[in-house]
Amino acid sequence: MRSVITGSGIGIPKNVVPNEKLARIMDTSDEWIQTRSGITRRHYADPGQSSSDLGMMAAEAAMKAAGRTQDDIDALIFATMTPDHFFPGNGPVVQAKMGFRESMPAFDIRQQCSGFLYGLDLADSLIRSGKYARILLIGGDVHTPFMPWQNGWDTTIGLEDREVTAKEREDNTKIRDRVVLFGDGAGAVVVEAMDDNGRGFLASKLYTNGSNIEALYTRGIGFRLRPFVTHKQIDDGDIIPDMDGREVFRQALSKMPESVREVCAASGVSVSDIDVLLIHQANLRIVEGVAKQLGLGADRVPHNIERYGNTTAGTLPILYHECVADGRVKPGMLVCFTALGSGLHWGAALYRA
Ligand code: ACO
Repeated sequence: MRSVITGSGIGIPKNVVPNEKLARIMDTSDEWIQTRSGITRRHYADPGQSSSDLGMMAAEAAMKAAGRTQDDIDALIFATMTPDHFFPGNGPVVQAKMGFRESMPAFDIRQQCSGFLYGLDLADSLIRSGKYARILLIGGDVHTPFMPWQNGWDTTIGLEDREVTAKEREDNTKIRDRVVLFGDGAGAVVVEAMDDNGRGFLASKLYTNGSNIEALYTRGIGFRLRPFVTHKQIDDGDIIPDMDGREVFRQALSKMPESVREVCAASGVSVSDIDVLLIHQANLRIVEGVAKQLGLGADRVPHNIERYGNTTAGTLPILYHECVADGRVKPGMLVCFTALGSGLHWGAALYRA
């Protein structure tokens, strides 16, 4: 028996924010953002639109594509680092709002940019253990709540139209290396137990190294602090993620190719057998660097970061969905998923479509 993806869907907020709109409120430029990251635009959620809202949009589409209703699903997994509430996670929110039966278990996982990859592994393990036959897996994030909205950010989504003050520009510029990279979005898949007809998950390799969590983390707000949030933390900007961009870049370029090679070796296939490599969309330069190291041509390594930026747990399911929809992933193809993100967590999974 194997775990097979029987349907996928995406939840993308309507507000398109091109680089030029960010350049209006901070010192940056379309040229800098495109050259360093490949991003031309991203989508921002409306005020009040959360990761569970985007996840539900994606989940409804995925279930429709799979021909499944709420009653058919045995368990739910939601991967996000930006849940609606500090606790509980988005699992129970989605379970109730989408009308799943009360007894259905809902798992909440984090793992940031590797959240969907870890979710796939969990779904596959739960299915192959025989515990559940059909799992709804959602990955998605809203990064916009991290942004300092009092500083003129409403102009990015057309809710106001004004020039920012010098002080607002200066404050926004302090976080420009991070904010230009991220967008809001979610994707979902239905994963089902099927008799082994060659399709489905073949293998995965997951890794964590927490020895340098400071490379990408949020310093403030957390239960090692008393109280867990203070005005000072907010004033000091401790609620905005810290990122050592160069270190994360370096780790991504070494760990993702390594885990792809390892999962291929464990499955008795060679890297050149991969038809489509779906890489976590954090930076186009990382995508191209990983593809180059693995000797895979651009035709086998799709990307959509130029249109969405980094949607964290949303990037892999959004990319998978788009590739299935436009025929870049076809039945029988060998698909490899790989990701690296805050934790650091990383890994790769092989899947026969
Ligand atoms: N606009 C204009 N200039 C900028 C911007 C910006 N948005 N951001 C930084 N700069 C400036 C810097 O201040 C610096 O100027 P200086 O030389 O005068 O000091 C210059 O550009 C170069 O900055 P670097 O940080 O060296 O630029 P780099 O080429 O390393 O690119 C980037 C930075 C894009 C962040 C890159 O390091 C990167 O993509 N890292 C990986 C990030 C990542 O993968 N995150 C993933 C995981 S996310 C998760 O798990 C939640």
